Amino acid sequence: MAIETSCDETAAAVVENGTKVLSSAVASSVELQAKYGGVVPEKAAREQVKSVIPVIEEALLRVRPPRGSDPRQFIDALAVTIGPGLVGSLLVGIETAKTLAFLWQKPIVPVNHLVGHIYSVWISPPSNQPGFPNIPSFPALVLIVSGGHTELVLMKNHGRLKEIGSTRDDAAGECFDKTARILGLGYPGGPAVAKAADQISPISQINPIRLPRPMLNDPSFDFSFSGLKTAVLKIWQGSDPREGPTLTKNQAAHEIQEAITDILVKKTLTAAQKYKVKSILVVGGVSANKRLREKMFLNLANLSPWPNFSKLYFPDLAYTTDNAAMVGAAAFFNYRPKNWAGVGARPSFSLE
Ligand code: KG4
Ligand code: ZN
Repeated sequence: MAIETSCDETAAAVVENGTKVLSSAVASSVELQAKYGGVVPEKAAREQVKSVIPVIEEALLRVRPPRGSDPRQFIDALAVTIGPGLVGSLLVGIETAKTLAFLWQKPIVPVNHLVGHIYSVWISPPSNQPGFPNIPSFPALVLIVSGGHTELVLMKNHGRLKEIGSTRDDAAGECFDKTARILGLGYPGGPAVAKAADQISPISQINPIRLPRPMLNDPSFDFSFSGLKTAVLKIWQGSDPREGPTLTKNQAAHEIQEAITDILVKKTLTAAQKYKVKSILVVGGVSANKRLREKMFLNLANLSPWPNFSKLYFPDLAYTTDNAAMVGAAAFFNYRPKNWAGVGARPSFSLE
């Protein structure tokens, strides 16, 4: 059984063999965040204190097929996210997991949240590409794109990860969230920008703006998104609606989505080619983005193929944003249990 409380979600799940999700429950304080336009750490943690036990109960009750009423009979180990994340939020999940490990006399496996996101691909149902392996083969290149992180990771095997690039300022999801806020599109920004962008038909309407693509041609695999936010702010504040129809919210959203996805796709595919990986994984909240998925597939198809490449993977939509099932899968494939007393929060836990 896995518990995840690193940011604003409170999640619990029961996972078998690292691939089969027997149950998954997620409670989100998204309404609270919408009110404040983002996550307020103190408020998030207080919500999590209230919801963690009900969410765990729900995950245990929803196990399919049913395994009986005593969790000690069918739970072999506990897994919990210990970082990176908000310290108050992390502690809620960690203390709960430690208490259960002590009570049930089960081992507990600490999990890095980013590693958790990577394993969202292992728990996804078979994709619509028959004939390809459903489990990624190594070496794999992973793009982790969420509200807090944008990283390119070379994965040689389970437990053998090397970061080859990351954002120097804002994360891609953060860029969606902040630009959505500038445009007044609501929270969370990613889905809001995507929805507005969808209103624009690329053929019928020529977009009146062109945003920069920061670091697109930089030889490193690092990213930078804060300039994009500033550019949107300048353009949007400069376009006074009283001066007539200049730029609509939908047009701005469309170009924001194009700029962010152009950067993510180019960097990822360039790295994949350089390291001649066998699979590419795109995970995290932003991997839910339809345009990102479409562009990644299109651009990959246009590349000259390299030997051994097999497949591009995205998680099932249910597992793109924070959940505990991915944490359970990560713990299974990286099974290093600890005594409960030695488990603590690591708010700035890095990948290596
Ligand atoms: O992985 P996640 O739930 O939390 C973190 O670990 O950060 O990611 C949340 C992020 C938010 O920034 C949200 O705006 C973004 O993922 N997101 C999207 C979409 N759905 C969620 N961004 C673009 N398009 C989407 N469809
Ligand atoms: Zn996350």
